[in-house]
Amino acid sequence: QRTAAEFVPDSRSLDRLRSAALGCQGCDLYRDATQTVFGDGPAPAKVMMLGEQPGDREDVAGEPFVGPAGRLLDRALEEAGVDRSQVYVTNAVKHFKFVRADRGKQRIHKKPSRGEIVACRPWLVAELEAVQPSVVVLLGATAASSLMGPSFRVTAHRGELLPAPEEFSGRPERVLPTVHPSSVLRAPDRDEAFAALVKDLRAVPSVM
Ligand code: URA
Ligand code: SF4
Repeated sequence: QRTAAEFVPDSRSLDRLRSAALGCQGCDLYRDATQTVFGDGPAPAKVMMLGEQPGDREDVAGEPFVGPAGRLLDRALEEAGVDRSQVYVTNAVKHFKFVRADRGKQRIHKKPSRGEIVACRPWLVAELEAVQPSVVVLLGATAASSLMGPSFRVTAHRGELLPAPEEFSGRPERVLPTVHPSSVLRAPDRDEAFAALVKDLRAVPSVM
């Protein structure tokens, strides 16, 4: 299988990684998307938030979590007492995957495949080495499967601070699985779903 590995430079400078990622052709998603959306935030950082993939708004802006899901995430972090300026934010997959509907005007988000998650993982591993987080918050099933493997179940472990896989040598030391902020936007009872996300995120300050 093709992966991003051959595009990842032998450097742990976020600026070098980010500019190299702009030219990634590790899977087919670069073809239709506007641009690579790399992670954003300080390095080192105690906390990394890991999403799925950029959405329509992020694809245009070139930055992660700047659309509706990002605004919800910012509010949840604030309510959970997490200082956003100390958080590095990124996605498991760095290009927007979509299908066109409504005669091509609207771009509808499509879930990345297992192959695309695996193809993009070398960028995430490089970010982990550059950022050296203590904890990675896994926002939903795609993020969790990238870091923990495809059989990991978020619903069985949400809100638990779990040991990270040994391959990361303690950076991160822990992962915190929870739901994706977009699922809160779609929930029948949004207030309840938001409160549950905040409750999960309250475990973060204890490891900062
Ligand atoms: N959803 C994600 O998973 N990541 C983003 O950057 C935006 C929306
Ligand atoms: Fe490369 Fe990831 Fe984009 Fe695929 S999704 S082209 S692996 S950056």
